[in-house]
Amino acid sequence: MSQADTLILLCRSGFEGECAAEISDVAAAEGFYGYPRLEKNSGYVCFHVQGGDVIELVSRLRFGELIFTRQWFACMPGLTELPPKDRLTPLGEQVAALPKCAELVVETPDTTDGRELQGFGRKLASALAPYLRQHDLMLPRKSRAKYRLHLFVLSGREMFVGVAPVANSASLPGGIPRLKFPAAAPSRSTLKLEEAWHWFVPRDQWDAELAPGMRAVDLGAAPGGWTWQLVKRGMFVTAIDNGPMNEDLMETGQVEHLREDAFVYHPSKPVDWMVCDVVEKPARTTSMVIDWAVNGWSRNMIFNLKLPMKQRYVETRRCLDRISDELEAAGIRAKLRAKHLYHDREEITCWLSL
Ligand SMILES: C[S@@+](CC[C@H](N)C(=O)[O-])C[C@H]1O[C@@H](n2cnc3c(N)ncnc32)[C@H](O)[C@@H]1O
Repeated sequence: MSQADTLILLCRSGFEGECAAEISDVAAAEGFYGYPRLEKNSGYVCFHVQGGDVIELVSRLRFGELIFTRQWFACMPGLTELPPKDRLTPLGEQVAALPKCAELVVETPDTTDGRELQGFGRKLASALAPYLRQHDLMLPRKSRAKYRLHLFVLSGREMFVGVAPVANSASLPGGIPRLKFPAAAPSRSTLKLEEAWHWFVPRDQWDAELAPGMRAVDLGAAPGGWTWQLVKRGMFVTAIDNGPMNEDLMETGQVEHLREDAFVYHPSKPVDWMVCDVVEKPARTTSMVIDWAVNGWSRNMIFNLKLPMKQRYVETRRCLDRISDELEAAGIRAKLRAKHLYHDREEITCWLSL
């Protein structure tokens, strides 16, 4: 057993409570008991595991099933008084107690203060990686390693070093995708759907799952950011919204705009995709999605659950459990996943695949 006793979980600033509640639940279900320590708006949570090996925990729990966690790593106890004249020696001592890695990633909290530390973190990493290799504490760059080394910087004196399984953590630093806003898209919301596809649909399945000629319904489509993504993949889209759709998008000939109620409309023939970005109570969106699944109106659905002001985690669980329970009762086999995406604010994005 290593001395790693702390799990660091990165999340959106303001969602530390949800991140902590979720990891406490999920870890306990696997027999790992611990207590979270968090500071509101810090962008991360420390979860201390009692009497268990936190490296085993990050191997046993499925990272992809966590909703409010963007990234995680199993850490040695935090270093709080790093001497500015020699940070490498104490960091190296901690790294020596962890499994050997080939890659070093530097992360900071996704907060204003955290972002200001990124330059310092990169400089420190460019000194740390060669130091670790010289001391035989890291594998050569191209080696295949089970774990990635993470340096989590909170200030010049305070940091954590830890590891995360390469195959069971976010491949991008901080779990943040750097998506470029396409200038032709009618709204910034477009990035939410693109990020959802990156997150939920494995890259090698894009050609099969997001194929030209497919039929899609976009509920609450105006002005058309999500429709734009579907059209870009060559799909034919029925856009449901009382509001106006972007004119260039309508000129593609791939979009039919119906001014109907998203909670009443359904297609006359099953479609390949239903996406929904309507701002509504999560319980109502949940009922609508269950209806679509039970009636087989779409094979794949991506929808948002707008989170309430209070009890955000409890409400999230209630909605997702209801979908799973009702589909199981109806004898429908489905895959359901949810994520608080980088481009999501007070909402989570869900993927239901029948
Ligand atoms: C957040 S916006 C959608 C933005 C869109 N996804 C995009 O990327 O441009 C929500 C939309 O839902 C529409 N909406 C709200 N309630 C609706 C309902 N009951 N039926 C249809 N559309 C509705 C609103 O008119 C609004 O255009």
